[in-house]
Amino acid sequence: MYKRVSGTKDILPKESFIWQAIEETSRKVFSLYNFEEIRPPLIEEAGLFNRSLGESAEIVKKQLFIIRNKDEDYALRPEGTASIVRSYIENNLDKTSSFSKLYYLGPMFRLERPQKGRLRQFNHIGCEAIGSYDASLDIEVISLADKLLRSLNITGYTIKINSLGCTKDKAKITASLRNKLQDKGEKLCDDCKDRLKNNALRILDCKKETCREIVKKAGLQDTCLCEECRVHFNAVKSGLDMLKIKYTVDPNLVRGLDYYTQTVFEITHGNLGSQDAIGAGGRYNNLVRQLEGPDVGAIGFALGIERLLLAKEIKETEKKETLAYVITLGKEAKEEGIKVLYALRENGISADMDYEGKSIKGAMRKSSDLKARFTLIIGEDEIKKGVITLKNMLSGEQREITRVDLTKELRC
Ligand code: HAM
Repeated sequence: MYKRVSGTKDILPKESFIWQAIEETSRKVFSLYNFEEIRPPLIEEAGLFNRSLGESAEIVKKQLFIIRNKDEDYALRPEGTASIVRSYIENNLDKTSSFSKLYYLGPMFRLERPQKGRLRQFNHIGCEAIGSYDASLDIEVISLADKLLRSLNITGYTIKINSLGCTKDKAKITASLRNKLQDKGEKLCDDCKDRLKNNALRILDCKKETCREIVKKAGLQDTCLCEECRVHFNAVKSGLDMLKIKYTVDPNLVRGLDYYTQTVFEITHGNLGSQDAIGAGGRYNNLVRQLEGPDVGAIGFALGIERLLLAKEIKETEKKETLAYVITLGKEAKEEGIKVLYALRENGISADMDYEGKSIKGAMRKSSDLKARFTLIIGEDEIKKGVITLKNMLSGEQREITRVDLTKELRC
């Protein structure tokens, strides 16, 4: 027997209605903020991710699912931002409208070591707003993440924000970090020893307690922001205050992808254990240009659906269509049943019938298991009289009805 690949999940019918509800709510909220859906492919040239996320990013170094094809490497997308920027440039979206608000829902793939909240195939609810450097767009995007979580009835989350500044600021922060940590190099974990040489900023992101302590003691509160970036960050914070969106400033928040500049944010939840981020995002003002597109600012985020489900066991009452269940007794009745079923569906009434040849008792039980509102019984007697026996499963009332009256009755 084949089993699913480690780190993947089957979403079975008893769970899929929750996913549908999450997707439906997300679409409504995105619409409210005037975002439009984009559906890029799940595979891209692997080089796109090296170039966008950074060659030293964990996702690129260790976690890409690579598909070798002759001389080319394709990769299953590990995240949405790079694909969407590629699509934005390739399809000249900047020429149709100077500003694009795009959202996406769908699976991402990372070859991680699976654990609670960390899968190899997981799903993002994400968005990218491309075409503006204005701090009001940062406020819009963070408030949209907050609105999404509230609409999904998630509570108890914390929004952490920070600013990495522009390219020059990032270089300054990196140099200052390297300076401060140089003599502590031996005490850092192996990954951070490497980071100290190649990408010192990432040390701030290390989850190992010893590294965290060293970073804390190094006192990196001064973030080396230039005047412009400081003003931008202050405007973002004031805007969030104005909208009464709660956040905390975390000077150690850096994020593991190279494309970020200025505002970065992460949303954590206490119910999740070590993988506590339910979502994250930030500005990437250089990425569009880096991928040979126009010089435009952009910001976005992504929420992880599986982690949202862990954060709070989202229980929705299953909103099923009113179902009519048809039971037939005998060959002639079966033909009549097929016609009735067809007519009901043509009239927009959800209906099903017994295909397993159950006894009337067994079929009645099935109807009640399916939580059908009505059971329709057609036997020899009904055929002779040209009627159908209709049982209201809520009240238990049972009566005969003609086919003409049936749809009218079931619609009420
Ligand atoms: P990210 O932080 O890599 O950001 O992923 C966003 C969210 O996806 C995480 O906060 C987490 O909830 C979820 N997630 C990530 N990896 C896994 C995993 N292995 N298993 C389950 N859930 C996971 C991005 O991907 C950026 N593209 C976000 C962004 C959009 N920044 C700007 N625009």
